[in-house]
Amino acid sequence: MLEGKKGPVIQKAMEILYRLGEIYGAERMLPIASVHMPGSSVVVSGKAGARFVSEVADGGGKFRVFTTLNPAACDLHEEHPGIFEPDLVALQHELTRAYGAMGAVACHTCVPYLVGNVPRLGQHVAWGESSAVAFVNSVLGARTNREGGPSALAAALVGRVPAFGYHLDEGRRGTVVVRVGASLDCMEDFGTLGYFVGKVCGDSVPVFVGVEQADLDSLKMMGAALASSGAVALFHVVGVTPEAPTLDSVVRSRGTPELYFGSEEKAATAAQLNRASRSEVDLVVLGCPHVSVTEFRRIAELLAGKRVHSNVELWVLAPLQIQVMAERAGWVRAVKEAGGRVVADTCPVLGAIRPLTQRLPYRSLATNSAKLAHYAPGQWQLEVHYGPMERCIAAAIRGYWE
Ligand code: F3S
Repeated sequence: MLEGKKGPVIQKAMEILYRLGEIYGAERMLPIASVHMPGSSVVVSGKAGARFVSEVADGGGKFRVFTTLNPAACDLHEEHPGIFEPDLVALQHELTRAYGAMGAVACHTCVPYLVGNVPRLGQHVAWGESSAVAFVNSVLGARTNREGGPSALAAALVGRVPAFGYHLDEGRRGTVVVRVGASLDCMEDFGTLGYFVGKVCGDSVPVFVGVEQADLDSLKMMGAALASSGAVALFHVVGVTPEAPTLDSVVRSRGTPELYFGSEEKAATAAQLNRASRSEVDLVVLGCPHVSVTEFRRIAELLAGKRVHSNVELWVLAPLQIQVMAERAGWVRAVKEAGGRVVADTCPVLGAIRPLTQRLPYRSLATNSAKLAHYAPGQWQLEVHYGPMERCIAAAIRGYWE
C-alpha cells in the first residue's frame, strides 16, 4: 500500500497512518472492525475539507470497513425552514454524497452504537467524536484512539490503524481512582459526575468505584461529559464496564491517585453548569448525545397533553433510525403536537444554525446535557440552565426555569 501498488488514494492514506505510527512509536498496524467518521459536518470540515473528501471519492476511494457518519450540519430528512444556513445545507449534501459513494452509512449521529455500529469487546476500531469514543472504549470495550477527520478517513480506506495508545493493554489501565459517595439518582447525575472528573483528570483513564449500577443512557451521558470538560477517551466503572470486574484488574499499583465525588462536589458541579442569571428560557435542547429509544419515550410521556410555551423553542435530537421507531410508537406526534421540534442528523454544536441564533433574541438555553451546557456559553453566548430532563421539559412548558 505504501509503495503505491494499490493506487494513489490508498498510498496517501497509508502514508498518513504510517507517519502517525512513527510519531507515536507504533510497531505494527492492526486490522479494524469499523470506523466512525468525525468531520461529517461541513461546519467542521469547512469547504476545503468537503472538497478533499469529494476528490478522494471521485478518485475511486472505497472504504474497506463498515463506516458510519457523525452528525451533519443540518437535518437531511426534514426541512426546518429558516433554521439552517442554505449554502451550507447544499455543501452538506455534497459531503454526505461523497462519503456515501465510498461506502459510508449516512446515519449522521453521535450514537452509532445505538444504530448498528456495535463493535465487540477487544476489537480494534477507528472512531472519532469524543462522546462516541468514550462510549465505545469504555462501555463496549472495543479499542480506539480519538481519531480526527484525516486519520479516520485514511483508516476507513486502508482498514488498519497503527498500534499505539488505547489499542494496547498498557494504554487502557486506570490512572485515577474516583470514589463515588454521592447518590446517582438519574442519568443527568452521571453527566454531572463525568463533568467533575473530566475537569480534574484531563486525558487520564478514570476508574469509578462505588457505582453499583448504570444503564446505557447514564453511561452515554457520563462519557460525553468526561470528554467535554476533559479529554477522557476511556473510563472504567468497577463491576459495570467489561474491563473492570475488580479494581485490581484495571489499576496497576496501590499508589494510584484518588479523587472523591460526594454530595458537595455533585451540588457544586451542577451549580457551576446551571449558571443563567435570568429565569426565562428561550431554547430547550434534549439529546446531546442523541437520544435513545428509552429517552424518546420518556420525553413523549412528559409532553403528552402539554403545550410548549409560545416563547420557547424545544428541540429533541434523535438519530433518524430511532425517530422512525418513535414515529410508529406515536412519540414523534406527541412532541410535535406539544409544539416541540424533532431534529435528525445534526445538533446545535455541529449544525449550521447561525441564522436561528442570530435572528431570534435567544439568551438562555435549558438542557440536561453537561456537554451542551459546557459548549453553549462559548459557542453562542447563551446562558445555561442545566438539570434533569423533567426540569427541562417543565421549563419548556412554563417558559422559565424554576
Ligand atoms: Fe452529539 Fe452534538 Fe452533543 S455530536 S454529543 S449532540 S454536541
